[in-house]
Amino acid sequence: MTEAPDAATRGRFVVFEGGEAVGKSTQAGWLAISRDAELTFEPGATRVGRELRRLLLEEYAGRLDVLTEALLMAADRAQHVAETIRPALEAGRDLVCDRYIGSSLAYQGYGRGLSVDTVRKMSEAATGGLWPDLIILLDMDPLRARARGDAGTDAFEALGMDFHRRVRDGYLELAAADPGRWTVIDADRPASVVREDIAALAADRLGWM
Ligand code: TYD
Repeated sequence: MTEAPDAATRGRFVVFEGGEAVGKSTQAGWLAISRDAELTFEPGATRVGRELRRLLLEEYAGRLDVLTEALLMAADRAQHVAETIRPALEAGRDLVCDRYIGSSLAYQGYGRGLSVDTVRKMSEAATGGLWPDLIILLDMDPLRARARGDAGTDAFEALGMDFHRRVRDGYLELAAADPGRWTVIDADRPASVVREDIAALAADRLGWM
């Protein structure tokens, strides 16, 4: 397994997780700007990742074997870590990422029904065991999120409420099992209020002022 970058000199790695339309991208963008951190996302941030994203969410959406889907997400992550995440952290840059390993655990594990342990092993192999310093779970009832009306129409967004409830419950279970890494934020509030909570959290947990 590849060594994680030296903890003393590397940048801090913050990940936003959550279901569809909970405001992740907005909050990730705000936090990155406030800290002048690099902002990135999964799936699809690298050149090959864009192809993988297209295959996953468009061309083969709904037609992939679940294990294939999980492996392609992991492949996207491997390239993203190698090309973007690890170099930034090693150069001492802070980095904010919209979705990471937690998305695979919640969607491919709890949502699709693959063994969560198997999915975790895939992601750990893909990333060399590089876990974020802080994972911010923006939690909201998926029905409420959908009612906000800013959900898109990609492959996962089109899945039924049962799927999205499993994803939400899975996320909450992951957060409860690892409170040192995960923090749950109630996303069913005005974005400006959520933003204040996140700023306070980043100050407390990372010393980001
Ligand atoms: P994204 O573009 O971030 O959509 P959203 O704006 O809803 O967050 O992600 C695309 C979809 O891919 C999203 O429905 C979640 C799904 N996904 C997985 O199933 N597994 C993964 O590992 C990742 C990173 C995303």
